[in-house]
Amino acid sequence: MKKTEISELSQREKIQTQIYASAEGACTFVADAITALIRQRTAEGKPAVLGLATGSTPVRLYRELIRRHREEGLSFANVITFNLDEYYGLSGSHPESYRRFMQDQLFDHVDLKPENTHVPDGLAPRDKVFASCQSYESAIRQAGGIDIQILGIGRTGHIGFNEPGSGPDSRTRLVTLDSLTRRDAARDFLGEENVPRHAITMGVGTILDARQVFLLGWGEAKAGVIAQAVEGEPSAAIPASFLQLHRECVFCIDEAAGCHLTRLRHPWLVGPVEWTPAMIRKAMVWLAGITQKPLLKLTDEDYTENGMADLLTEKGSAYKLNIDIFNTTQHTITGWPGGKPKADDSHRPERANPFPKRALVLSPEPTDDVFCLGGTIHRLANQGNDVTLAYLTSGNLAVPDTDARRSIELIIELGETMRNADEVKHARAVEKQLDGKGAFGEDTPDIRHLKGLIRRGEARSSARLLELEPDRLRFLDLPFYEKGRYRRFQPQAEDVSAMVELLNEVRPHQIFATGLGHDPLSVPALCFEILREALKACAGADWLGECWIWLYRGHGAEWEIHELDMAVPLSPDELTFKIQGIYQHQTQRSQSPSISRQSENSWNLASELNRATAKTYDALGLPEYEAIEGFKRYLPQS
Ligand code: F6R
Repeated sequence: MKKTEISELSQREKIQTQIYASAEGACTFVADAITALIRQRTAEGKPAVLGLATGSTPVRLYRELIRRHREEGLSFANVITFNLDEYYGLSGSHPESYRRFMQDQLFDHVDLKPENTHVPDGLAPRDKVFASCQSYESAIRQAGGIDIQILGIGRTGHIGFNEPGSGPDSRTRLVTLDSLTRRDAARDFLGEENVPRHAITMGVGTILDARQVFLLGWGEAKAGVIAQAVEGEPSAAIPASFLQLHRECVFCIDEAAGCHLTRLRHPWLVGPVEWTPAMIRKAMVWLAGITQKPLLKLTDEDYTENGMADLLTEKGSAYKLNIDIFNTTQHTITGWPGGKPKADDSHRPERANPFPKRALVLSPEPTDDVFCLGGTIHRLANQGNDVTLAYLTSGNLAVPDTDARRSIELIIELGETMRNADEVKHARAVEKQLDGKGAFGEDTPDIRHLKGLIRRGEARSSARLLELEPDRLRFLDLPFYEKGRYRRFQPQAEDVSAMVELLNEVRPHQIFATGLGHDPLSVPALCFEILREALKACAGADWLGECWIWLYRGHGAEWEIHELDMAVPLSPDELTFKIQGIYQHQTQRSQSPSISRQSENSWNLASELNRATAKTYDALGLPEYEAIEGFKRYLPQS
């Protein structure tokens, strides 16, 4: 990079930020720093002091540290740890307490001395909380201060549980959790109503006192807040932005989490770029957006005034560029997501042949399918393709107890009417298990089974509205989900085998999948990894060479326009059908963070996203549709 570019970048990025192709690379880098610290301190005969975080983000780092302990002899005997935070009101044995999380994810697997691990006391009585927080601070000081602090970041911009409003001088204290933070934790607690309202957290000031800070971040859900923290002004609105005040702070993130940084999002604004076709398309869609002009009306001045003069020089004139990108974008539109039979397909996103196609839709949890591509599924089925809709996990963890209870009561009443003693007996036994579960208890296998069946019923009635009969559905109930909890899932070979079996049975011409760019421990991301492994295992299968993979985006976001390879328009009626399909998932109405996390009114989020895509196409000068579902082609070798 030339000097001018570095200064341009550093003017924007006020925190050193390292972007990795995947979370693994970032975790290796941070694990190396921790290893070096431990070895150096041990050689000096001093303890190494680590500040630790919980949540999904550091789990891979902890797995890597455990691996080094087991395989490379890295000892933690000389390490003292301080965790950032703890839910207030939870004892260390509660399955969702951060103490328990740390025991499960790290402490129990390395040779840390129990007395050297510190987690704020979630059970300190109200009148003793202040003293307890002060003694936490003094314990950190007595240990010599924190050498390396590990952080994740919340979507509110919090570090630790320093929610918006927290100042740079704040210290360890009792705080109230933001409603977005509580919604994000709803899955872990099997319902938002179970999430504690308060927590004890180290302050921003406590964090800034650490000698070195590494903030980790994965997945596109963190991209917006990371860009604000790195490029915005330091402000209590995004507490992580105060890390700009720290001289030894590095953000180690994956590409998805970095995708809102200017250098990735609008690289032409921070230096010369290689004008590949994809980059040109991205820049021009952006240019049309900021000038509020359709593509065909962009002028030479628009290019030169917005950092794209070199593109103009390279390509000659706005006129040609405008037409090229207009055509490329127009050719993404098709009302035939399975390909249009007997049509010239040279400018269509999908092949005309073979027809009909065997289309396999993979839905990580029930609702992902209808929410993200309900209109497309309807079209595929309606146009005569052979559609198989596979629900990869049962989704039973996201069913509230109230819904389970309602079903149990129904079964009992029906069983009594039909004089089916066995059915009544079983239902009563499950009811008893539910009664005995307590406020935060885990579901028994019977309860999980029942909840899974409830979601199957919802999925069937939703699919029926999309014109798919129940025999077109497959429920894989992947074992990793049945055996785990959110953030602790660990897919195994048996999950991959189940996927391989499905693929070889369906022999798809098209697969619709999601999960790329999600938090790597999320259900969609894990399912996508399972698919990737399964595809590798199918190498050489005759159907594979003919199979195209279309990626749909998760619940919270849609692809950006320049990323789309296929745009499937929905008529007003089709959108109504899709919304009706979503409404069939009654248990998810108030519960599922995957639906409720984006906005209060997020039951309608799918239609908002699809309408927004259609509006952008319209603004670019393309036809005006009611709504559009978008897909990106995935090439496994890429
Ligand atoms: C956890 C903590 C939080 C998390 C943040 C991100 O100890 O202090 O700040 O780091 O909420 O959570 P995940 O990693 O689950 O996305």
